[in-house]
Amino acid sequence: MITLNKLTKSFGARTLWEDLDLSVEPGRMLALVGASGSGKTTLLNCMGLLERPSGGSVRFRDTDVTRLGPGGQRRFRRDHLGYLFQDYALIENATVKANLDVAARRGDRSDTAEALERVGLGGREKEKVHHLSGGEQQRVALARLIVKRPSLVLADEPTGALDHANGAMVVDVLRRMSREGRAVVIATHDDAVRDACDVAFDVSTLRMFSPH
Ligand SMILES: Nc1ncnc2c1ncn2[C@@H]1O[C@H](COP(=O)(O)OP(=O)(O)O)[C@@H](O)[C@H]1O
Ligand SMILES: [Mg+2]
Repeated sequence: MITLNKLTKSFGARTLWEDLDLSVEPGRMLALVGASGSGKTTLLNCMGLLERPSGGSVRFRDTDVTRLGPGGQRRFRRDHLGYLFQDYALIENATVKANLDVAARRGDRSDTAEALERVGLGGREKEKVHHLSGGEQQRVALARLIVKRPSLVLADEPTGALDHANGAMVVDVLRRMSREGRAVVIATHDDAVRDACDVAFDVSTLRMFSPH
């Protein structure tokens, strides 16, 4: 699904990683691990085209997406990508329902109620996002992903702001998305999240390993 080839990222004289090779297939869930500052977020951002790598390529189904123009990059993000950010990236001043509707295809907004049930926020459609707690906002972001059904899901520390039960629920939802055939990549320093993944990739050593 997505293949990184000889990916390099530097900020000035500092190289985060060099010649990084990694690929994630549909139906697989991969953990990105490594010390704080090793470049997990930056790697996710390169995969999601939010940052440009300094070298190498990011191929999505045979297209080098780093070479797409602005319109092509926007379409790639819109049609294929689901991002679960550390800071939720919700529309704060809008209702829960409005935040889910932006992810739904036109005329296909029926499954928002079901997605909210799934994340434990059933019946909360009309509430304004800025009245929700951090953990609840994270779950709205997760419900938005469920509605969008992207083929590639990139999640950055998705359990960071959550208690144990909600963290487990997030992992469970991401696991289910991978079983439905999506490729899921999760940057995490949470051992329980890593262990729930099929494989793990250490951004500090550029080594793939089995978390089990
Ligand atoms: N735009 C930037 N300019 C300069 N340095 C940056 C920039 N973005 C990230 N960094 C640095 O790159 C390193 C890796 O950051 P990050 O990808 O957030 O790591 P991680 O998610 O593994 O903690 C950090 O030292 C950070 O300060
Ligand atoms: Mg990070």
